[in-house]
Formats: sequence, C-alpha cells, structure tokens
Amino acid sequence: MRKFLPFVALPLAALIAFSCSKSPSATTALDDADAGDDAGLDEVIDAGVPCEGAGIQKGPWVAGASLTSVIVRWETCRAGSPLGIHATTAGATARAVQGRETPFTLSLDHDAVLAPKAPKDYAGMVWTHEAVVDGLNAGTCGTYSLDGDATKTGAFCTLRAPTDELQFVAIGDTNPGLLRTGPLLPFGKTASFAPDFVIHLGDIQYYDSRLETWASWFPLMQPLLGLGGFFPVIGNHEFENPTDFPEFFMRFFASTGFKGTDRWHMFESAGIAFIILDTESPMDDASEQGIWMKSTLSALEARKNDADYRGAVVGFHKPFLTCGDTYDNAPLLALWEPRYIAAGVATVFAGHMHGYERFDHGGRPWVVTGGGGGAIRDPNQNMNRAYCNERTKGGAYYHLMRVHSEGTKLHMDAVDDTGTIIDAFDAPLLRGPKTP
Ligand SMILES: [Fe+2]
Repeated sequence: MRKFLPFVALPLAALIAFSCSKSPSATTALDDADAGDDAGLDEVIDAGVPCEGAGIQKGPWVAGASLTSVIVRWETCRAGSPLGIHATTAGATARAVQGRETPFTLSLDHDAVLAPKAPKDYAGMVWTHEAVVDGLNAGTCGTYSLDGDATKTGAFCTLRAPTDELQFVAIGDTNPGLLRTGPLLPFGKTASFAPDFVIHLGDIQYYDSRLETWASWFPLMQPLLGLGGFFPVIGNHEFENPTDFPEFFMRFFASTGFKGTDRWHMFESAGIAFIILDTESPMDDASEQGIWMKSTLSALEARKNDADYRGAVVGFHKPFLTCGDTYDNAPLLALWEPRYIAAGVATVFAGHMHGYERFDHGGRPWVVTGGGGGAIRDPNQNMNRAYCNERTKGGAYYHLMRVHSEGTKLHMDAVDDTGTIIDAFDAPLLRGPKTP
C-alpha cells in the first residue's frame, strides 16, 4: 500500500515533482527510482494527481444541512492544507470555521480512456475535509470560501422553518464528460431563483462512459455544487466498479445527519419532507428500506392536519412509471403509491431514463428527470404501456428542474440547455406556509 510521508523526508528533486505535478510521468519516474537507488521513494506517492497550491482537488460542496447548521466538504491531495473556511451570512462579517481532515486511501486507479486529457483517479492517499458551520438560525443563507484558496467558493442555506417558502433544483444522470451537462448548469440559478439545495436523482458520474473520472467530474460540476446543498440519491452507476460506491459516493455524500441511513433518509425544509430512497436496495415491504419507508410515511400521515407539515417530495433513481427505454416497476408502484397519497406526497422524482417525462398519475405529477447530460436515449420506446396516456409531457430533452413552493403548491419548471422552459406545472401541497 502506498503511504504518504512528510515532504521534509524527500530529496529536493522529489519534492519538486510531488508539489508541482504528480502526473503519470512523474509517477513512472518515481517508480523507476524506487526500483533503483532510492528504494523508499515509492512510499511517498499519494493519489498521483496534480497537487499545486493548497492542494484542493475536489469541491467544495455542501453535503448536509439542518435547521441550524451546514456541512461543507472538500478533498485535498496532501495533509496539512489550510483546514478552515470563512462563512458569511447576510448582514454579518465573515466567520472563520475550523475544519478537520481525514486521510483516506483509494485502492484503484481509474482513467477515462476516451478522454486522455481528463485527470485520472489515482490509487493512494487523499484527505477529505469537513467544516461544520453551526449556531445558525433556520433559513439562513450565505456564502463560504476555503481558507486554502479563496477562489473556491459556494453558497449554503440551513433548512427552513415551516413558516418559510423554499426553492430547489432537481437533476439526474449527469455525465459532464459528454459536454451536455455543463450548458445546463447556469440555468440552475436566475435573478429570481436561488436554490437552497440540489436533489440529484442518481447516476452522478459515469466511469462507464469512459469520458470522465471523479477528478474530471468535480471541476465541471462546480457550478452546480456551488449553488447550495448537494443531496443525491443512489443510482446504478454509483456501482460501476467495486470501489466506486464505498470510496467515492459514501465518502463524499454520506454522513449527512439526515434522518435514516446513508442510503435512504429524510430531511425537512419549509414544512416539506424530502424522502430520499435507494432503488439499488430492496424496497419491498419486508426489506430494511421498506420497513423504514412504512414507518416514515406513517409518521407523516399522522401529521397531515398539522400546520407545520405541508407535504412531501419523494426522490429515487429507477422510475416506477416510464414510457422510455428502461424498465418500469408496477409492483413497487402498487405497493407504495397508496402510502404516498396517504402521507401527503406532492410529487415523485426519478431519473435513469435519459430524457424527460411527466405523468399526471393519482392526482400528482410523477417526473422522470434523467436528462442531466447522459446520452439521451429513446423516451418513447415503450409508449404501449397502459399508463402512457397519462404522460402529459415527454421528450429527448437535456434539462434540469427549478422547483419552488408557493402557498399551497409546488411549482416546477423543466428547463432545457438553451434556458427554455419546456414544461411548467404545479404539484399540490397540503397547505401553505405556517402562519408565524
Ligand atoms: Fe441509471
């Protein structure tokens, strides 16, 4: 196993090589040295990626939020990089927040064979950083910058009280290496729309496209990551190789503090419950996730007359309803839809089918928002499915969703990669915001 040793232990030539560029050629040169006159040199090789300046190589992003705090994460390629952030909220001076770093050893190299200029993911040690901005009020928004590099910035919001309204973005199946995700991202924010967070419907990064790695994904996705919280569901492409899920997804996006588990959980903002599910795990009645879902939905149903509960949004990856080129799931639809309705679920988001679909089903919209940049497939391949006459809108659109609560409804705009609103509709909430 490759290990990191302090730079002071290195010969000067090696120090220059590691601090400026841990490119493949540098790695090869050092491996050659290891075989020759400096037998210990290989031990200092870490993740092998360029490690300049403060060494910040992924992020930052907001991985979690509560009513009083947010979690900011980023990754560096060396230990001892400046650990903190400065967070600024409206009317306040910038506040220094100390973070902590955790070393992590990546076990495999990954590259993008069709994009030779894309940075690789190298085996070796990296450092995950986390800073928690706490002591905030509900609905507090602000910005932050990393102390190690003030150009690394983003926005954050704590979760909101039931008296408030809410804005968020939904997007799925992003594959920025194909160059169709990037043009979408500027439309995640407008003069009148600044999302608190992004719900990603899964298939976040595609090693399988052979056009990207996590190292190339992060810089291309930073315009989205900087908008606010980044709260993804788990898709099938989070398991493209044995290390993808444990070494990347879990390290980046788990341990959020949300209610539930790292794979399925719930948080609540503006009186709206967001239920994040995992279609890569069993969802039947007797499964661990199914038992959690029943308990969660029952608890929400019991609050249907409460002024501080306005309804719920469900998000998962593989759609129960689709007329496109992927499987639907009638058994899970039959099992869970009545419970969704009983619990006051306003809308259901899925991804996986690379295109756009909206169904008016059971009195609420079911949306497939899988057009985040993965190669668009055929959204009409299975129009013979019985419920496809309920598909109000569908097509081969690259798009994201801008969603905001507005009194007794959630309003949603599906926006394509030219900024055109291709679909606009409402989902019914149980009630408007609670009276202060
Ligand atoms: Fe998928």
